[in-house]
Amino acid sequence: MKILLDTANTKSIEEILPYFPIAGFTTNPTILSKESENVRETLLKMMELANGKLMIHAQVTAADTAAIVEQAKELKQFIGDNFYAKIPMTLQGLRAIPLCKAQGINCTVTAIFTPMQALMAGLAGADYVAPYVDRLDNITSNGVNVVKEIVDLFHIYNLDTQVLAASFKNVQQVYNVASMGAHAVTVNTDLCMKLLFHPYTDKSLEDFEIDWSARFRNQEITDLLK
Ligand code: E4P
Repeated sequence: MKILLDTANTKSIEEILPYFPIAGFTTNPTILSKESENVRETLLKMMELANGKLMIHAQVTAADTAAIVEQAKELKQFIGDNFYAKIPMTLQGLRAIPLCKAQGINCTVTAIFTPMQALMAGLAGADYVAPYVDRLDNITSNGVNVVKEIVDLFHIYNLDTQVLAASFKNVQQVYNVASMGAHAVTVNTDLCMKLLFHPYTDKSLEDFEIDWSARFRNQEITDLLK
């Protein structure tokens, strides 16, 4: 499973990137509105951090098919081959998918709330679909089940489209979609850090430290090889 960072806060990306096996970044209009002073500069910094290797999923702001395809082309020219056009799950967006794919542009269909929307996007040729787990949970639906249903449908119909589960608020949601076979998740940097946390891990390390220094003081294990 791939882990992406759902943020345009390049400072927090920089802090986390050396430590985690990150496959890319995702943004949407809300994220860029909140986290970016200058969209061009933010994208340039994200490109530098991606180093041509990590995926950058950036959402088009246009609503009609022709404008979606134009924006996707321009964004690909700006970002490069690691760019994925995030296209909203609308009628116009659905039509834009094969047109973008014909021009060699990767497509991630976003704002997915039902398995049927995901199936339509997959049949249209999307590389990824992004179901919104927490937003589903908040309308008394079940985001994790929707992800599982989408994974199953793609398997049944032998589609190459991958599920990039999005909109998470806690570790349990991330774990649940991982165990359902989601191909990728996108999480904010705070939640990414929480994926590692367990108080007993910290406590165990404290205990090791206490026991070691009681016996060997400030010597390291490698000092004792000499
Ligand atoms: C990412 O692709 C989505 O746009 C994002 O995860 C939505 O998250 P939110 O529900 O926390 O806004």
